[in-house]
Amino acid sequence: MKIIDLVTVDSTNTYLKNNYQHLEDMTFVCAKYQTAGRGRGNRQWLAEEGKNLTFSVLIRDEDLIGRYKMLSVLSALSILKVLQKYGISDVSIKWPNDVYVRDEKIAGILLESVSRESLECLIIGIGLNVNQKSFQGEFLHQPVSMFQLLGQETDLDNLKKDVYQQLADCFSLLKQGHDFYRQIAENDYLKGRKAFGEVRGKEMEVEVIGIDEDCSLKIICENRIMNIESGEITFHLSSGRNI
Ligand code: BTN
Repeated sequence: MKIIDLVTVDSTNTYLKNNYQHLEDMTFVCAKYQTAGRGRGNRQWLAEEGKNLTFSVLIRDEDLIGRYKMLSVLSALSILKVLQKYGISDVSIKWPNDVYVRDEKIAGILLESVSRESLECLIIGIGLNVNQKSFQGEFLHQPVSMFQLLGQETDLDNLKKDVYQQLADCFSLLKQGHDFYRQIAENDYLKGRKAFGEVRGKEMEVEVIGIDEDCSLKIICENRIMNIESGEITFHLSSGRNI
């Protein structure tokens, strides 16, 4: 197990982008504080110092690099499994790779790749809200922390080891051919929901069928079944709130 613990860094994803050539597959880089934590869609990822898990995992294994869509959803499933182990219920995967407890976001995942002539590596960055007691400001998706759900603090070192082990176990099973689809489909937050969404730049009413076997999202819109990839849709409720 290769874990690099940093006190302060700009972003653990950026750290791996700059250093991956000297690091082995499944290196796990964790920081107490990120000065420039990044979220999807060029958003910031803000997390109080020393209170949360902010880490990235380096994937250099060629088989797994080719299965990046599955890895993204499987990372969310791994976090879900750890949260359940810590006694949190009503956890689900919000496609493509957020983890929700009921209607609030407890973890976000930023998957990035580094390419030269070919894909060199994947970097899976995960922010999990652990001991933060409150969240100030405006959020696209309402955050929640383990502390807010459990009413007590969680030991960050033990949690970090559990998360690492769960990710390592799931990725190794995937390599051996294990099929996670049933578990993914059973914990699909968007499945069956009707929402409004901007699909490929156009505002439409959408009914979600669910995460498909290839990890795209199957939806019905304008009476047509279609499969969309991450980044092609932004959902919001009729109230205008994003989901
Ligand atoms: C999102 O939901 O928008 C994705 C958030 C990902 C945040 C994590 S924290 C560790 C890693 N380093 C970063 O700069 N971002 C990811």
